[in-house]
Amino acid sequence: MKFFRGAGKMHAWANEPALGASYTQEEIDTVIEVLQESVDPHVGFRAKKHEIAFEDAFSAYCGARFAVAYNGAGTALDMVLRYLNLQPGDEVISGALNFVGTHLSVIGQGGELVLCETDPNTLNLDPKDVESRITDRTRAILITHMNGLPADMDALEEIASRNPSPVHGPAKLIVDAARACGADDGAGPVGARGWATVFSFQSKKLMTTLGEGGMVTTQDVELTADLRRLRSFGKNQHWGSNYKMTKLQAAVGLVQLRRLDSMNDARIRLAHRRSDLLRALPELTLPPESSGRQHVYYRYNLLVPEEWAGQRRDQVRERLADGHGIGSVVADPPTYLTHPGIREHAGRPSLPVSEATAARLFCPPLHPSMSDSDNESICTAIIDVMQSVADDNN
Ligand SMILES: Cc1ncc(COP(=O)(O)O)c(C=O)c1O
Repeated sequence: MKFFRGAGKMHAWANEPALGASYTQEEIDTVIEVLQESVDPHVGFRAKKHEIAFEDAFSAYCGARFAVAYNGAGTALDMVLRYLNLQPGDEVISGALNFVGTHLSVIGQGGELVLCETDPNTLNLDPKDVESRITDRTRAILITHMNGLPADMDALEEIASRNPSPVHGPAKLIVDAARACGADDGAGPVGARGWATVFSFQSKKLMTTLGEGGMVTTQDVELTADLRRLRSFGKNQHWGSNYKMTKLQAAVGLVQLRRLDSMNDARIRLAHRRSDLLRALPELTLPPESSGRQHVYYRYNLLVPEEWAGQRRDQVRERLADGHGIGSVVADPPTYLTHPGIREHAGRPSLPVSEATAARLFCPPLHPSMSDSDNESICTAIIDVMQSVADDNN
C-alpha cells in the first residue's frame, strides 16, 4: 500500500482510492482461465458468449428488460444521446455539480446543455429548478445519481410527464448511474427506471471490469437494438464504431456483479459509522442517510458551514493532508467552472446554490476494504482539523 508523507505524518488512505472495488482470487482466476482458453487459435478473444452472460446477469440484477455492454459509460452515454437525433436548439437539462464527461456528451451530440441547480444536501438535481427550466424544446433530463445517492426519480418522472413537448412528448429521463451501481432508487436497484440508465465500470467505480467498461439498461427494444449496432460498426445497417467490451472484462464483470452488494454493504457500514462519529461536530453537514433510497457512498460528501465556504474549507483540506496525511477531493464543482469547452457552450450561468455548495464541499476517502480503525482515524483527524480551523478564525 502506498503511503503519503505530509509533515512527517502518513495515512494509509492519503488519496482517493485508484481502485473503487475490491478484487478477490476469483477475479484473478477468472482472468487466467479466460486468457488461457482464448490463446487457442480456434477460440480467440471474441466476447459474445461472455458479453451475453454478463448482460443477462446485469439486467436481471437491475430488473431491467435489456442490458447492453459498452467499453465505457462515456461512449455509452454518447450513443444513448445520439439515438435522440438532437437538432440545434434541442435542450437537455442536467445538474450543475457533475462529471464533466456527462455534459460533454450532450454538447458532442449537438444538444443545448441547460444547467440547473443541485440540492446542497444531496448534490442531486433539484426538481423544482428542473421544472422552472423545462421548455417545449426539452428532449431529455439527464439525471446523475451523484456520488452514489439516487436522485428523486418520482418527482422527475412527474415533472417530465406534466410538461410534454408538443412535438416529442415528455422529456426522456436518462440516468447517469456511473457512481450508483447497486444503489436503490426507491423502486429497487438503479437501472429499471427512466428511459435509459448508464453505468461505468471504470477503475474507481463501485464495481470494475479491469479498469474500463460500461453498461446501458433500458426497457426500450429499439434503443437496445440501436445500441447493439452502434457498438459494432452499425452491423452493416448504419454508422457505428467499435465500442465493445472485451471478453476478459465481461468475464470479470460477472464476478464483480456477484460481489457488488457485499462491497456496497461494506461502504454503507463504514459511512454510517463515520456519520455516527462526525455527528459530534454539528457544524458539519453529513450525507443524508434515509430518504426512501439507498445511498451506496461512492463518495462520502461533507459540507463545511456556509461562512467557511472557499478559503476555510481549503484550510480544512490542507490541514488534513499536511497534518494527517489524509487526502480529499471536491467532487464535483460546477462543470462550467472547470471545463473551458462547457463554459464556452453554457456561457457563465447563474447557479448560486450549486456554486456555494461546491465551495463548502469536500470528500475524504472511503473504500469497501478500509479498516474500522482507518475510518475512525480519519474521523478523529477531521474533528481535530475542524477545531483548529475554528480556533484560528475566532
Ligand atoms: C458521473 C459519471 N458519469 C460518467 C462517467 C464516465 O465513465 P467512463 O469512465 O466509464 O467513461 C464517470 C466516470 O468516469 C462519472 O463519474
